Amino acid sequence: MAQKKRILSGMRPTGPLHLGNLHGALANWIQLQDEYDCFYFIADWHALTSDYENTGKTSDYVRNMMIDWLSAGLSPEKSTLFVQSHIKEHAELFLILSMITPVPWLERNPTYKDQMVQLSNKDLSTFGFLGYPVLQAADIIIYKANCVPVGVDQVPHVEITREIARRFNYLYGNVFPEPDAMLTKTSKILGTDRRKMSKSYNNAIFLSDSPEKISATVSTMVTDPQRARKSDPGDPEVCNVFEFHKLYTESATVSEIAENCRSAKIGCVECKKMMAQRLIKALEPIREKRKFYEADPKMVADIIITGSNKARAVAQETMEEVRAAVKI
Ligand code: TRP
Ligand code: SF4
Repeated sequence: MAQKKRILSGMRPTGPLHLGNLHGALANWIQLQDEYDCFYFIADWHALTSDYENTGKTSDYVRNMMIDWLSAGLSPEKSTLFVQSHIKEHAELFLILSMITPVPWLERNPTYKDQMVQLSNKDLSTFGFLGYPVLQAADIIIYKANCVPVGVDQVPHVEITREIARRFNYLYGNVFPEPDAMLTKTSKILGTDRRKMSKSYNNAIFLSDSPEKISATVSTMVTDPQRARKSDPGDPEVCNVFEFHKLYTESATVSEIAENCRSAKIGCVECKKMMAQRLIKALEPIREKRKFYEADPKMVADIIITGSNKARAVAQETMEEVRAAVKI
């Protein structure tokens, strides 16, 4: 049997996961588990690049992210689940790659320029922040990953990874495959205010939210902005609640809702209530599994240790090759 291709991806532990994360990344990662040899990790060193002033919550976020992952369906039996800072080899490879990475490659990285503007409240004129993609390259190539499932915003980082891998191979001999970005379909669901769902916008529905919290949040959702009164016909195609229905409600009912919205037979309050019920039900298994893992912190810690041990063994093998190639 042909060897399964290797997938690698990571998430920064910046807080609890929401539906935007689920439909934008995690659901895809879960699906890939059966077909590929998947390595998924929590990028806690990367969280430091922008949040170095405020590190107190990081270890809590790491544990909770693993619980979110496990509850949603990532499986430690199928995939290698680990934490970046547990594998010191990432740091060693990062250091070596930093020797061969031209600074202009990093300075013209679009996410670098973008984040500098967006996070202007933080001082990001640090070496570590500029070097973010070098650490990411180390994360990826240390496992000789073939494919990296990411959203469009991360494609430039995979591109820099390819360039760094190519440069290493050119200087020291062929050690690393060049990984391909595997684009994740972007999720159409938005936050309650119709902006991108984000913890910092306060417009998110979290996987760990209680049914009461979900109902309350859904009731604040902005619908078709043109529809002021219940007697006005609505347009489901511009309504975020309708996007949720498409994900969580059976298709016959979805068509009915669309019709009743257009003919003003259903009001937004009722429509949202229906959606909230379905969403609550769909997230029920995740909440149940979360309870199970929360009651057993040792099990979660063991999953992290076991996964990290598996990852480390692979990383150590690669580093043997790297040191031999670099002659150091
Ligand atoms: N930069 C990624 C993000 O913010 C997280 C990340 C770190 C990553 N290392 C990675 C993603 C390696 C894929 C592969 O989403
Ligand atoms: Fe949106 Fe439903 Fe209101 Fe139509 S009835 S605008 S689909 S919330």
